[in-house]
Amino acid sequence: MKYLYGNWKMNHISSDVDTFIKSFNRIKLDDDIAYGIAVPFVHIEKMVKKVGQKAQIGAENVAFAEKGAFTGEISAEMLTDFDVDFCLVGHSERRHVFNETDEEVNKKVKLLIKNGITPVLCIGETLEEFEAGKTQTVLKNQLKNGLKGIKDELCGLIVAYEPVWAIGTGKTATKQGIIKNIKFIKKCLVELLNKDGASVPVLYGGSVKPENAAELLSDAVVDGALVGGASLDAKQFVEIGKNIIRS
Ligand code: PGA
Repeated sequence: MKYLYGNWKMNHISSDVDTFIKSFNRIKLDDDIAYGIAVPFVHIEKMVKKVGQKAQIGAENVAFAEKGAFTGEISAEMLTDFDVDFCLVGHSERRHVFNETDEEVNKKVKLLIKNGITPVLCIGETLEEFEAGKTQTVLKNQLKNGLKGIKDELCGLIVAYEPVWAIGTGKTATKQGIIKNIKFIKKCLVELLNKDGASVPVLYGGSVKPENAAELLSDAVVDGALVGGASLDAKQFVEIGKNIIRS
């Protein structure tokens, strides 16, 4: 079983969503792939209603606080209320454009678990860190800080390894680099979460497309992909899954 999760980011108005739904629902999906799509808040209700049977529907962000005077934020409880299955946390755009800290990431993970929503914890090194050979130190710290104080219930936790320099750039990590770092992440997860850590799926993200999916994702250690740009079009998105299975 591989996981294919999409992240629409700040794209698609409602007419685009209708086009996506029509196309997605016409395609026969592979049983060996678990599909998930993270969408902007305003599209959640429609996506849950119309696609929720075929794919998990997720949010792209959640507030770090439970409720109250946080203008513009959406709480984990509100997401549960709208039947959201999962939520991205710590995506590189949140960390680097909105200066989200590990501490906030940790609060969000805990609130999601408390509300029964699967956190998809995104971690990854910047180009500078990559070139300085600091990748694994960064990954370990982001995991340790993001999962601080989480002992028992993981609520289906998923980790996505997304090198910041590979997101939306057309550059991908090498297959060997992905395998090496995902193995390292899995080792850290066992250290941090004991035996439960061994069951956490670890996905790769960063410029995944139908053309490179088989090469990058076919190794058994890679549990799937988190896809940005190529998840906006239903056919292209599903094609990624088909190419992984075929390889
Ligand atoms: P990309 O984005 O596939 O467009 O590189 C990946 C992500 O941000 O999760």
